[in-house]
Amino acid sequence: MAPVLRIEDLSVEYCTREGTVPAARHVGFDMEPGQVTALVGESGAGKTTVALSILRLIPEPGVVTSGAIRLRTPEGERDLATLREAELRDIRGDVVSMIFQDPVAGLNPVLEIGQQVQEAITSHRAVSRKDARDLAMEALTRMRLPDPKRIARSFPGELSGGMCQRVMIAIATVLNPKVLIADEPTSSLDVTVQAQIINELNLLREQRGTSILLITHDMGVVAQIADVMGVMYAGALVEMGDTVETFRSPRHPYTWSLLETLPRLDGRSRGRMLPQIRGAPADLMALTGQCSFLERCPKALTICREESEPPIELLPSTGGAIPSAVPVPGSTAVPHSVACYNPVEAKTD
Ligand SMILES: Nc1ncnc2c1ncn2[C@@H]1O[C@H](COP(=O)(O)OP(=O)(O)O)[C@@H](O)[C@H]1O
Ligand SMILES: [Mg+2]
Repeated sequence: MAPVLRIEDLSVEYCTREGTVPAARHVGFDMEPGQVTALVGESGAGKTTVALSILRLIPEPGVVTSGAIRLRTPEGERDLATLREAELRDIRGDVVSMIFQDPVAGLNPVLEIGQQVQEAITSHRAVSRKDARDLAMEALTRMRLPDPKRIARSFPGELSGGMCQRVMIAIATVLNPKVLIADEPTSSLDVTVQAQIINELNLLREQRGTSILLITHDMGVVAQIADVMGVMYAGALVEMGDTVETFRSPRHPYTWSLLETLPRLDGRSRGRMLPQIRGAPADLMALTGQCSFLERCPKALTICREESEPPIELLPSTGGAIPSAVPVPGSTAVPHSVACYNPVEAKTD
């Protein structure tokens, strides 16, 4: 399968009065149709920066200093990083769309829900009012909002947070995007509603082949829905791989610490959030050029102090599988990569 979106060597800096914050550093990964790619990492790791860069929505004083965002379209490949603003506007909310953590802030408080969904349609498609209305109702119904007719006539303030998030997903997906970026879409919701939203995302990918980039703090959510997971630390992707494989055999000491401190058999939400790892989070304004996890790393060697930051590299295939040039049916064959001079040993059982 060819990726629908390829992020290449993405770097973003925020030029603040206190100094330059390198919030994303040479981040690259592929997104396949129908797959969920999760991005995890502690607050400030650069996840939102990566998400916003895809649609060139980085706010001032942010500057994209390197990278390409290659979107596959029927007309060929488009680099969203260099596309003309007018063309990018056509893609935003249509081919690639985004939902945010705070659903209420994403909606216009003085406009009826139905109108907001219709606007998402008519801003991209020349359709009759009736068709827009029908499409909007269809989108709200698909999100299994109770009594969608009534919801369409409501204002955001009259709905719960969970309902607003469903409305936001309805808006973001009404035009059947190829890529959906969801930045902590369930963080402000209670556990039951979270599970429902995750379910809706799952249906989207299964039934429509939407490729989803999901940013979350919740490792339970990652385990439940993500095919691939990427771990960010101090602006860089430090590990990326198949979710099951990465949970089973994390190779970066940071990923290992994250997963090691998770209770194994406890499905309750408290234990599923990203745990605190010893030491202070990386200071992006004081990067040394060595591995950014060095000071907190339980496995650091001399080489880690002497060499510059390790690049992310493909690992040889692990898991005891017989190496094969022929793809195994049903296997996702996601390469596992890690940025570390002394990775955690592979589990071979
Ligand atoms: N608008 C901004 N101005 C200055 N610094 C910012 C801005 N937005 C984010 N940053 C900084 O960039 C880094 C990464 O932030 P972010 O991408 O939001 O991380 P995450 O989503 O992983 O929590 C943080 O150090 C943050 O303080
Ligand atoms: Mg964020």
